[in-house]
Amino acid sequence: MIVAGVMSGTSADGINVALVRIQGRGFRSRVELLAHYQFPYPDNVRRAVLAAMNARTANVSDLSRLNFLLGELYADAVRTAERRAGLECELIGCHGQTLYHQGDAKLFLGRRIACTWQAGEAAAIAAKLGVPVVSDFRPADMAVKGKGAPLVPFLDYVLYRHRRYGRIVQNLGGIGNLTAIPPRAKPEDVIAFDTGPGNMVIDAVTEHLFGRPYDRNGRFAARGEPIERVLQQMLRHPFFRQKPPKSAGREQFGREFARQFLRLCRRADENDIVATATALTARSIGTAVRKFVLPLVEPPLRFREFVVSGGGTKNATLMRMLRGELAQLKMRVRTSDEFGLPADAKEAAAFALLAYQTWRRLPSDVPSATGAQRPAILGKVSYG
Ligand SMILES: Nc1ncnc2c1ncn2[C@@H]1O[C@H](COP(=O)(O)OP(=O)(O)O)[C@@H](O)[C@H]1O
Ligand SMILES: [Mg+2]
Repeated sequence: MIVAGVMSGTSADGINVALVRIQGRGFRSRVELLAHYQFPYPDNVRRAVLAAMNARTANVSDLSRLNFLLGELYADAVRTAERRAGLECELIGCHGQTLYHQGDAKLFLGRRIACTWQAGEAAAIAAKLGVPVVSDFRPADMAVKGKGAPLVPFLDYVLYRHRRYGRIVQNLGGIGNLTAIPPRAKPEDVIAFDTGPGNMVIDAVTEHLFGRPYDRNGRFAARGEPIERVLQQMLRHPFFRQKPPKSAGREQFGREFARQFLRLCRRADENDIVATATALTARSIGTAVRKFVLPLVEPPLRFREFVVSGGGTKNATLMRMLRGELAQLKMRVRTSDEFGLPADAKEAAAFALLAYQTWRRLPSDVPSATGAQRPAILGKVSYG
């Protein structure tokens, strides 16, 4: 079956579409990427999305409009992808744009509530393309006490499990998240959690200092040196010490965090500041691996490969720092491209795979990753 996966991440940079051929079922599924495309949001849409994520200023009529507008943009993106690839999909899995995510239950009007919201009206996509759409993947996991994230570990387990050695799969989106698959892992042996910022802090300081949305190819950071004092201070953030499972977003590493970071840097050299933000991502990942992942496996079995994906793989300075961190832990860094899945297509491909499982009425969360009490069939179907 040919399935389109549609993803918009926390970077709010745009829409990724992957066209994927999927066969088999459950963890034995076979996944073949046929084509993938990226559609950046126009500037005004990106601004509206970022404004909608700001819980203090968002207003309900704009949120409702944005939900339908994103549905239209997703439908256009899939249609363009199909035309360019000369393919037609039979099913769509659309993650949508997360506007709010609170994975842990907190007291609200007398009840403990966890909640999440991904915008992008699936009914609009299904109607425009005449193909069923699975959307809203996260709530079903949360309804059985999961955190609703991360969901990509299902794909990671399907693609990267290995009989003789362990692999760690790291995505570098706005937030960084990893999936650790020990050697010979059963699904319940997989652990996954957010490591902290991926590109989010780098993007914020580059925007502030240079007026650019991101540090293209890591050039600013390459001209600077990390400021160790600031790095140590930022690494003291409680999130880095918290034991997994744990998840992060703009709530932890958004505007307020960047402001505090810039205050600590005071009048340091601008390239040094970007280098420090970059080192924060690399160092926090190295620390997370050392503290929470390596102790999972008893020698002589071990984690040997570190497979990276996401937009951050294009940041050469970040990749250099990351290779340095992992060399100390005797792990080799590879990119998901080497496994047939280009770094910026992986998350979109994951939601094609999850949609396919839902269509077959199969669960596709990994309870050891989300904390769910049992596996759940994810998402809602719009038939079009
Ligand atoms: N050429 C590049 N050089 C440096 N960073 C890049 C480049 N291309 C993309 N990025 C980074 O990747 C981010 C987008 O990555 P992505 O995987 O789409 O994240 P998300 O899932 O959060 O949307 C951008 O915000 C930017 O920081
Ligand atoms: Mg993105």
